Amino acid sequence: MRLEEQVVIVTGAGKGIGRGIAEQFASEGAMVIVATLVPEEGRETESAIRERGGKAIFIETDVSSEISIIRMMDHTARTCGRIDVLVNNAGITVFKPLLEATVEEWEKVMNIDLRGVFLCSKYAALQMKKQGKGAIINISSNHAKATLPDTEMYAAAKAGVNGMTRSMALSLGKHGIRVNAICPGFTDTPHYRKWLQASGHASVVEEEVLALHAGSRISTPGDIARLAVFLASDDAEMITGTEMLIDGGMSARLYNSRLC
Ligand SMILES: NC(=O)c1ccc[n+]([C@@H]2O[C@H](COP(=O)([O-])OP(=O)(O)OC[C@H]3O[C@@H](n4cnc5c(N)ncnc54)[C@H](O)[C@@H]3O)[C@@H](O)[C@H]2O)c1
Repeated sequence: MRLEEQVVIVTGAGKGIGRGIAEQFASEGAMVIVATLVPEEGRETESAIRERGGKAIFIETDVSSEISIIRMMDHTARTCGRIDVLVNNAGITVFKPLLEATVEEWEKVMNIDLRGVFLCSKYAALQMKKQGKGAIINISSNHAKATLPDTEMYAAAKAGVNGMTRSMALSLGKHGIRVNAICPGFTDTPHYRKWLQASGHASVVEEEVLALHAGSRISTPGDIARLAVFLASDDAEMITGTEMLIDGGMSARLYNSRLC
């Protein structure tokens, strides 16, 4: 119960990594604000937490809309009196060849994955500044560091998140606010399963993906969530401005060989 009495906002907490993070924070005693787009998903996360004796409030939120973010932050501050932790998790992926990608797709990815992080952090930090303490955790991606073809928009947005994390850590440190990024690698979520199916060779691709990992397994939302809880806790008091890769050793490998 490291986070008893703390108020934690998790964006995109309707499923996948965000839901895992929301559930983990709730199990540590926090009041979790489930700030997500799809009401059915948001209510499901809220109910799952409450059924286990945790505290959660679903607030319908679109992180690509400034007014929606302001309403969610105001509602949280009015209902809970404070905001201790913000986890910027909401994100979408558009993998599309550069030569076919449109400005509309570019703007959609940027507005959710990058501008959403900027705006949520700004409005949460205004409240955290009054309290003199806070933690912001940005769920970035390993694509911020190494990427693949046809991934320009997503890779740019996530690299932007890492850059912004460093600057926000420096800007907000004087108000007692720490800012860090988590860069997950492959993580087993509905989004990952959809990506596997879209490949048309799900079992072959899955086998290839598992072989890239030191322990032959990919992350679960719980793996990411436990790192987020640590970064939010006072145990991480001296950690700010960092980007933490959590990829089961995938990026440690120099090259792929069938022999080793
Ligand atoms: N799954 C992976 O392998 C992986 C790897 C690296 C990084 N990530 C990052 O982790 C985060 C979560 O990914 P996931 O795989 O759990 O995704 P997911 O698609 O399974 O879940 C995303 C959640 O965000 C919500 N959402 C989407 N747009 C929103 C908006 N405009 N406002 C508010 N909520 C919105 C969705 O409704 C959903 O509940 C993303 O930022 C993603 O880029 C995922």
